Amino acid sequence: MSIVNFKKYLKDPMVRELLVVGGVPAKQQIAALNSGIDIVVGTPGRLEDLIQGGYLSLTHCRFFVLDEADGLLKQGFTELINKLHRRIPKVTSDGKKLQMVVCSATLHSFEVKKMAENLMSFPTWVDLKGEDAVPETVHHVVVMVDPQKDKSWYNLRSHILTDGVHHRNNIRPGNITAETLSEGVKIMKGEYCIRAIKEHKMDRCIIFCRTKLDCDNLEKYFRQVGGNEFSCVCLHGDRKPPERKANLEKFKRQEVKFLICTDVVARGLDITGLPFMINVTLPDEKSNYVHRIGRVGRTGRMGLAISLVSSVPEKVWYHGEWCPSHGRNCSNTNLTLQGGCCTWYNEPQYLAEIEEHLNITIEQIGPDLKVPLNEFDGKVTYGEKCINRGFNYQNHVQQMAPIVAELATYESKAQLYYLKKHFAMR
Ligand SMILES: *[C@@H]1O[C@H](CO)[C@@H](O)[C@H](O)[C@H]1NC(C)=O
Ligand SMILES: *[C@@H]1O[C@H](CO)[C@@H](O)[C@H](O)[C@H]1NC(C)=O
Ligand SMILES: *[C@@H]1O[C@H](CO)[C@@H](O)[C@H](O)[C@H]1NC(C)=O
Ligand SMILES: *[C@@H]1O[C@H](CO)[C@@H](O)[C@H](O)[C@H]1NC(C)=O
Ligand SMILES: *[C@@H]1O[C@H](CO)[C@@H](O)[C@H](O)[C@H]1NC(C)=O
Repeated sequence: MSIVNFKKYLKDPMVRELLVVGGVPAKQQIAALNSGIDIVVGTPGRLEDLIQGGYLSLTHCRFFVLDEADGLLKQGFTELINKLHRRIPKVTSDGKKLQMVVCSATLHSFEVKKMAENLMSFPTWVDLKGEDAVPETVHHVVVMVDPQKDKSWYNLRSHILTDGVHHRNNIRPGNITAETLSEGVKIMKGEYCIRAIKEHKMDRCIIFCRTKLDCDNLEKYFRQVGGNEFSCVCLHGDRKPPERKANLEKFKRQEVKFLICTDVVARGLDITGLPFMINVTLPDEKSNYVHRIGRVGRTGRMGLAISLVSSVPEKVWYHGEWCPSHGRNCSNTNLTLQGGCCTWYNEPQYLAEIEEHLNITIEQIGPDLKVPLNEFDGKVTYGEKCINRGFNYQNHVQQMAPIVAELATYESKAQLYYLKKHFAMR
């Protein structure tokens, strides 16, 4: 989309771009490739198909850009990226060096660093985000889900579908074992979503679940609780592209109130500025916490982010490369250490890590999901413009000036560097 927008200003020669994604017939893409393309934008799967099929050759490629690189690496595309990189000449036919640009939300993750080390030579690191900081327009809280203190799940067992991790454990609420408590957490997390929505009269909210199955189950529960009050759509990797697109549109047009999705599929969605976000599971990677929180709130509008945190370890699915069905229809509840597909997820520990990383104590709210009266409550309505809350944009320009100046320095450095190289070659 951006290329299409920018290229309007580039007349001679015209830039010819092509979007290469799955879910649409390859035929048109192949025809376009044959007619000559300057910039190919694509997803890994389809790109690989076209390369394997001999329709797309990388021998004249001069720029290699990886967007959301951390996401690609996490999804297991490391080998594919390496393969693409190997196929691109490091020095092009006209004697120029391959230029590589990597964009990543978490610049300092181990995987990204390792990839940069392997594939790039002396990369320049540009960190736009700076230190981790929760935006001032986001009020974020955690609610502990404690199946021993709150026993409401005893009565909900037959209503909420869980991920089936404990289907062989003969769960009986009276029999307090790690497995029973884990199952209790799963049930209560669904229920707490409903409670949060009711308590805050949410009418627009993005809800993150850890797995596709968790998304499906929560969607079913919302349907069952019913009514317009819980209208929702679900978005994850197992839904077909047309359905994903349609669902996203429904949410954007506000035909439904809730978007239930996995973190993976949410990457790259241009959904921001929402009044509410519920995270059913904390990220196990501490640096992700702030990143995803950024979806709520925006300039002058407050957003509320609620994370549900289990007080006890929860046994969850973890399908790795070793899982023969890639999680599609897997029932191997053995732990990963025994070659199975489950692991104990330790949220209290992840919470501690996030708090240590951010050097803050995240405010905790109770099982009634009420946000206590504090500097925010009563003074703001989430999602609506907040007035007189110290958001004074009168000297906004002065506030932003140092950051803009720094960016400008990087920009001109990069350009000068390029020019020097360019003319030195001649
Ligand atoms: C108690 O739960 C454990 C595991 O959750 C299970 O193995 C055991 O059979 C249960 N005991 C009874 C009496 O139900
Ligand atoms: C929400 O959960 C997802 C999936 O576990 C995670 O990637 C994301 O970072 C979380 N965000 C917050 C704010 O907890
Ligand atoms: C999943 O597995 C069950 C039994 O293992 C089988 O009956 C069912 O057809 C499978 N479903 C799919 C979609 O493969
Ligand atoms: C799970 O582990 C047990 C004991 O190690 C083993 O007997 C069983 O076959 C495993 N189940 C699967 C589905 O691999
Ligand atoms: C953490 O925050 C406290 C007070 O908010 C501050 O005194 C301390 O220096 C901070 N620690 C680090 C490592 O930034």
